[in-house]
Amino acid sequence: MKTVQIIAEVRKTVSDARSGGAAVGFVPTMGALHEGHLSLIDAARSACDFVAVSIFVNPTQFAPGEDLATYPGGIEADLSACEARGADLVFVPDVETMYPRGAVTSVSVSGLSETLCGRSRPTHFAGVCTVVTKLLNIVRPDKAFFGRKDFQQLVIVTRMVEDLDIPVEIVSCPIVRHADGLAMSTRNQRLSAAVRLQAVALHAALESAVARIRQSHPPAAEVIASAREYLSTNAPDGEIDYIQIVDPQTLRDVETTDRIVLLALAVKFPGARLIDNMLVDSAGEGQ
Ligand code: PAF
Repeated sequence: MKTVQIIAEVRKTVSDARSGGAAVGFVPTMGALHEGHLSLIDAARSACDFVAVSIFVNPTQFAPGEDLATYPGGIEADLSACEARGADLVFVPDVETMYPRGAVTSVSVSGLSETLCGRSRPTHFAGVCTVVTKLLNIVRPDKAFFGRKDFQQLVIVTRMVEDLDIPVEIVSCPIVRHADGLAMSTRNQRLSAAVRLQAVALHAALESAVARIRQSHPPAAEVIASAREYLSTNAPDGEIDYIQIVDPQTLRDVETTDRIVLLALAVKFPGARLIDNMLVDSAGEGQ
């Protein structure tokens, strides 16, 4: 496995692999890798011949006052994990490499970026889209792998590459959960033991909402009200940022649940804001 900090070297390594006929897979990350990230590397490994991973804590997707300064790190463990899972190349640029003349150019996808997480993080997705565009231009992969835990990010990035004719296939990968249901997240490590127990309520609230939808397809507002009540009781230290039921393609709120819907929520706990979601198909199956 090669670890590279310079853009030209990434391009050369990937283009050498491609000239030998390799299909290139790419997994962008911000490091502090857990099994969720590693499952993306596994997916890239099984679908492609050459696997590139990036580790870059992108400052432009954090607003002032968010957790950029305290975002977990641990590059040595990350590199070992990438190597163990079969990555061929890890790109670890610094901020100066990615934004040598500052960040005056940005890419944004309007319509999809203002809802859900975009309500409380209005500049977040422009930061994500800008860095993902740059990374795709640097690595030029055939396929790029994104987890459904950040469902809104996945939808926005998919739309962005379509709109900008970026020649890459965006591959959607399942959420990886702890045994108790909590979705894996780098930010989970910042929860106290007591809050970690409460955080399980996110998944439980989604599961019970899916069960209600499966049973009787109630109006979305009723499902949201019960999920809100469940979280207030079972995660008292959490401040609900949003609970929404949306169309999974447009991310617009829906009123009825007798169709494919995405249930998505975000809760701010002391130490970390957590997100989770479940897709429910028309037969009421949660995923
Ligand atoms: O999902 C993430 O970890 C980040 O938003 C990404 C896609 C690596 C861009 O910085």
